[in-house]
Amino acid sequence: MSESHNLIELISKSEISDRVEKIASDISASFKNETVIFVVVLNGAIFFASDLARAVSIDCKLDFIKVSSYIGTKSDGKVKLEKDLSLDVNGKNIIIIEDIVDTGLTVKYLKKHISMKNPKSIRIASLLLKPDKAKLPFNIDWVGFEISTEFVVGYGLDYNQELRNLNAIYKLGDVI
Ligand code: IMP
Repeated sequence: MSESHNLIELISKSEISDRVEKIASDISASFKNETVIFVVVLNGAIFFASDLARAVSIDCKLDFIKVSSYIGTKSDGKVKLEKDLSLDVNGKNIIIIEDIVDTGLTVKYLKKHISMKNPKSIRIASLLLKPDKAKLPFNIDWVGFEISTEFVVGYGLDYNQELRNLNAIYKLGDVI
């Protein structure tokens, strides 16, 4: 754990793993006998996606996409595509795997961007959702946990690229 940050545990490792198992079983039931492409949003969703992909009982492929919209703890309101998909998603079932939906800007951009590639379906799974901040014209299909508007780190979520590898979710208190 970082010595320079005041970290307060919000969601424990076992709460995360129970919730991931539940989402995986819902996804498996929704896509029984079908193939799904998990579109993992780099870098934050890597641990959520790797746990989820290993917990589902359906055939799934993994692809990765990267966008940037964040500097420190504030969004600059723009989304830039840094790395596009490698697989052909035309006619495929897609599940976008996100770490967190904060303002909703990223997920809105990704849904529109991937829709233009003519998939059969697009669903979204996000480990975290800040409902008081997110402004979305659609629902997030699977949400791990709803949280308040505070900045959080761990289990993939970073603060300026640090603290991503913590195995639980922490509120980021004042720097000490
Ligand atoms: P949005 O576009 O505002 O929904 O933000 C999405 C992205 O911002 C996420 O994929 C994260 O990378 C980052 N982000 C938003 N809130 C947090 C947070 O509380 N902790 C760490 N990263 C965050």
